[in-house]
Parts: sequence; C-alpha cells; structure tokens
Amino acid sequence: MEPILTKNWGKPHSRSIQTYLAQGGYATLKKMFQMSPEQVTEEAKRSGLRGRGGAGFPAGVKWGFVPKNTGKPIYLCINADESEPGTFKDRAILENDPHMLIEGVIIASYALGVRTAYQYIRGEFYRPWEMVEQAIAEAYQHGFLGQNICGSNFSLDFYQHRGAGAYICGEETGLIESLEGKRGMPRIKPPFPAVSGAFGCPTVVNNVETIAALPWILEHGGEAYAKIGVGKSTGTKLWSVSGHVNRPGVYEVPLGIPFKLFLEEYCGGVWKGRKLKAVIVGGSSVPVLTADEAFAVTLDYESLQGAGTFLGSGGMIIIDDQTSMVAALENLAVFYHHESCGQCTPCREGSGWVEKILHRLYHGEGRHEDLALLQDLADKMQGRTICALADALAMPVRSYVTKFRTEFEAFIREGRSPYPAPEWQG
Ligand SMILES: Cc1cc2nc3c(=O)[nH]c(=O)nc-3n(C[C@H](O)[C@H](O)[C@H](O)COP(=O)(O)O)c2cc1C
Ligand code: SF4
Repeated sequence: MEPILTKNWGKPHSRSIQTYLAQGGYATLKKMFQMSPEQVTEEAKRSGLRGRGGAGFPAGVKWGFVPKNTGKPIYLCINADESEPGTFKDRAILENDPHMLIEGVIIASYALGVRTAYQYIRGEFYRPWEMVEQAIAEAYQHGFLGQNICGSNFSLDFYQHRGAGAYICGEETGLIESLEGKRGMPRIKPPFPAVSGAFGCPTVVNNVETIAALPWILEHGGEAYAKIGVGKSTGTKLWSVSGHVNRPGVYEVPLGIPFKLFLEEYCGGVWKGRKLKAVIVGGSSVPVLTADEAFAVTLDYESLQGAGTFLGSGGMIIIDDQTSMVAALENLAVFYHHESCGQCTPCREGSGWVEKILHRLYHGEGRHEDLALLQDLADKMQGRTICALADALAMPVRSYVTKFRTEFEAFIREGRSPYPAPEWQG
C-alpha cells in the first residue's frame, strides 16, 4: 500500500519545510489556485473522505452546510484536542509532518472561503504545539501563509490555541466556547457550528487527520482516494494501538482490512503469548468487542457498525485474557465522571453513580442488584444530554456488563478479582 499520511514519517528532519518541499509538498497549491473553491469542495466530496475525529461524517458534505454570503467571516478550527483514552494518532501527524496538515488547512480554507483558521491543541501537547508553531513560521516565511499566498488573491492566517487539559474541549462546541475564552461547555445544537460557530460566525471543525488527507486528495484526485478502502469507507486510516500487544504504535492501513490480519501482521499479536480477550476498536467511548467478535470484523465504518460498535477515532486498545473487565470499566468510569462538564443531570449524576457502583464492585462490596442498576443508569444517560460524553460512558457500560456478565457476577459472588492487578502499556 502506498502510504498517504505517513509517507514522510521517518525521513530525516521530516517536520522541516525543506524535507516537505523536497517530497513535493505544497505543490498542489499551484493546481488549487487554478480551480474554483467549489471545484475543490467537489473533489473532497468525490473522495468520500469521512471525518476522522469520531463521527465519520463526510468532510465535503459538512463544508457544503456553510452558508455563503452572510457577510460574516467563516472560520476553520482544526481539532487537535485528542484526549480520548487510547487515541494518539493526531499527535503523530503533528510531530512527524506538520506541513502536511498546514497544506491541508490552506486547501480547506480556500474551499470554504476562510481567512482565519485556528488549531485548538490539547494543553498537554506542549512539544507538538512548539513543532507546529515552528512549521507555521516556516510556512509564513515561504509565502504559504499570510497575504497573497503563492502570488494568488487568497490570504490566510493560521493560529494555534492551547487547551488546558479538559477532554470536553474536544467536543466541537466545547472547543468553540474555549476558543472564545469561555469555560469549555458544549452548546445545544442546532444551530450547528457550520451555521453559527466561533464568535457567532459560520465555522467548520475538522480533525487533524481529516485535514491532513487533503493534499493527497487534491494531488491525485478524489476518485483515486475513493478507490482505496471499501464501500463508503474510503482511503486510509491511522490506528493508534495500545494495550497488550507486542508492537504498540500508530499504523496507517487502507480501510477494510481484517482485524485479525492487522493484529498479527502490524501489531505483532497479543503480548506474552497470551490470548485476546477483548478489543476497544475506536477509542474508549465505543462499545467493546469480544475476541470472537473482533476476529470477525474488518476495520471499516460499516463492518464495525454491523458488529455493534464504531470506528470512532481509531484508538485501538487490545485487552488480553489476564485482564479484569471490571477493572477496565472502572478505569473508564473514573475518567468520564472526572471529565463531565456538569451541565446535564444525566451525565453529571449518572457518571458519578456509575463510578461509585463500579468502585464498590471492584473493591469486593458489589451487590447482586448492581448490574441491573448499571444497565438502568446507562439507559437513562444515553441520548438525553447536550453532547455525546454521556453516551461515551453509557455505551461501554452496557457492552461490558452484557458481554462479560459472568465475570461481573463472579466478582460480586467472590467479593474479589480473579485476575492480577491491571498491566498497561502505552
Ligand atoms: C466528548 C467528545 C470529545 C471529542 N473529542 C474530540 C477530539 O479530541 N478530537 C476530534 O477531532 N474530535 C473530537 N470529538 C468530535 C468533535 O465533536 C467533532 O465531531 C470533530 O472534531 C469533527 O471533525 P471531523 O468531522 O473531521 O471528524 C469529540 C466529541 C465528543 C462528544
Ligand atoms: S453530556 Fe456531560 S459533558 Fe456533555 S454537555 Fe452534558 S454534562 Fe457536559
């Protein structure tokens, strides 16, 4: 497979503009300025590129929702918050090839009529922030950002805004609130950001990986991109793999490859010669798959949805057969409770109750009725809140308790874990 997003990774000084230019970087801009913004959007639509931040919404279609001629500026916000447990692929793009992202920002901005673009970057990503700052400075020096880019009529400024460690600022309207200098609390939708986003203006929020795919798409054409992958899951995807595997890391593969092949060929199989017990395929917020379910899927949007889970952000966590699913779920509950912004009662209270119940269960004080209580809480949280953070806990709770019920029951009966303390690696 010809790599798209990772093609420059591992080259000497891969994040410098010299390396990027030597590999043909920024060459698509010449071609782009001969096209109309509508033609660029059409190319993105033709590619079938879907948002890589979690929801998988087609990028070109989202751009089409932006109203033209409102007299207001249009903003582009790159979502580099990447705080979902298990997800670390955007960081790899920022660290290895920030110019690919910047070229993508220029392409999307031209298509949308954006004059000011922002990158909202996770506060803990200090080094990646510095690296992108350096790349932005190089892009200005070479005339790829600023006034009259490459001698065209198009001008663009690109700024980074650092977060302060809240997962909820990755949710697009929480991100916008935070960008505006307010507390990162998600907004009720509609209106969607495309209509009224940052500073009350039309705004497109796109993930780092989504935007980084644009230079290739423009160079080779949307149709060529659509030929990679399977069905409506076009192109390649970065998977960040952690947990109990021999070779954790970030891998680029075409969408649609079998999970089994991916685990064995790319990740080197389950560590310590152990067996696979479960897989979180798309970041901590998606329903967990049992080993049997995982071995039956291919890694694309449709196959994973068919198996009752989601591709999400592509943050894959491999869980071996020595791991307690009660411990794993308790770990998640602590995270989601801590990260709830607190505006919605089902999320604020529900996540607290889920954590409390799992805590007592894990510490040998579980009650028989606790499993029904967990299911009930999940039902009362999901789909009843402003943003999807409540669902992001409700869905794992339901799937862990249903699929590993005998383990949860044994835990309550015995009052202790049959497994050793959890072993994690990143
Ligand atoms: C709680 C929560 C956290 C999120 N965190 C991120 C994130 O860190 N990065 C991201 O790109 N999208 C995140 N999203 C999804 C964004 O709201 C949005 O859908 C995405 O940035 C759109 O980009 P895309 O269309 O290119 O995928 C999150 C959503 C929720 C509900
Ligand atoms: S669901 Fe949770 S995180 Fe999202 S807005 Fe409501 S309280 Fe905040």
